[in-house]
Amino acid sequence: MKEKIESLKSVVSAFEAKTADELEAIRIKYLSKKGIISELFNEFRTVPNEQKREIGQMLNQLRDTAQARLAELKASIEAQKAESEKPDLTRSAEPVALGARHPLSIVRNEIIDIFSRIGFSIAEGPEIEDDWHVFGALNFPPEHPARDMQDTFFIEKNPDILLRTHTSSVQTRTMERVKPPIRILAPGRVYRNEAISYRAHCMFHQVEGLYIDENVSFADLKQALLYFAKEVFGGDTKIRLRPSYFPFTEPSAEMDISCNICGGKGCPFCKQTGWVEIGGCGMVDPNVLDACGIDHERYSGYAFGFGVERITNLKYQVKDLRMFTENDIRFLQQFQ
Ligand code: PHE
Repeated sequence: MKEKIESLKSVVSAFEAKTADELEAIRIKYLSKKGIISELFNEFRTVPNEQKREIGQMLNQLRDTAQARLAELKASIEAQKAESEKPDLTRSAEPVALGARHPLSIVRNEIIDIFSRIGFSIAEGPEIEDDWHVFGALNFPPEHPARDMQDTFFIEKNPDILLRTHTSSVQTRTMERVKPPIRILAPGRVYRNEAISYRAHCMFHQVEGLYIDENVSFADLKQALLYFAKEVFGGDTKIRLRPSYFPFTEPSAEMDISCNICGGKGCPFCKQTGWVEIGGCGMVDPNVLDACGIDHERYSGYAFGFGVERITNLKYQVKDLRMFTENDIRFLQQFQ
């Protein structure tokens, strides 16, 4: 018995196991009810009394050593497992699908960029406006058709409150607040009560510019517009100003650019004329300056306004305006 225990001692302290299964097999072989060590405990009953003390101690020690070794192995197997399940911090990141800028934002930012190079800064104002800032201060007579329900979304309970139909309202607000010289660009969303179709929407975007100082002339306006057209559509672009009417500018003009789709030769887009309209412009009417508290004897100014959708269509030939608001990812991801 003694020899058996002695020889098992070295076996037990040399237990090796790499997996939990191997470990369990050893436990069963040595320490389960019918295991080798448990059998020794059974045999122990037959040991003569005078040897019981010594052999009992040896047996207990053997069992303790075996248990300690198994515990040790268990701990190291678990540690290894934890190590292998650790996240690999050196791995490169999962590829994340990035969004793209909306085409209207791309074009708006480009317009802002172009005008900021000649000293224009951004001005903003509310989309929900009052009559004064959208119409009254801009020299719209009370009976002017643009105030008609056809064009303007009024707040039913208070017809003095409406959705701005143009960002000229930001010009009014700026003129009331700031002393000339004023050189601002007002990009933003505007609303008109139009049936939605491929060529019209009840919500669209404008960028309007306003420059007020001493001795500002129509020639300055034309030069700024030509610079802008060349920057957006290329160095060969020409502009044409046609006499027009806006209550808030005098004289007023519609601005055309040479059709950048056919280069001015004539195509279906420009209806064979070689020109496409991109906005309105003119010299700020003295009545507007007066209404906003600016001395029209001393100061003069010009203003212009473009449709961002219109310019975007010319640049990217988007045929249906509704695509800008439908959020179709197949459309949007073309503008990376
Ligand atoms: N506010 C005009 C519009 O919305 C455009 C415009 C701006 C015209 C500035 C002249 C000067 O149609």
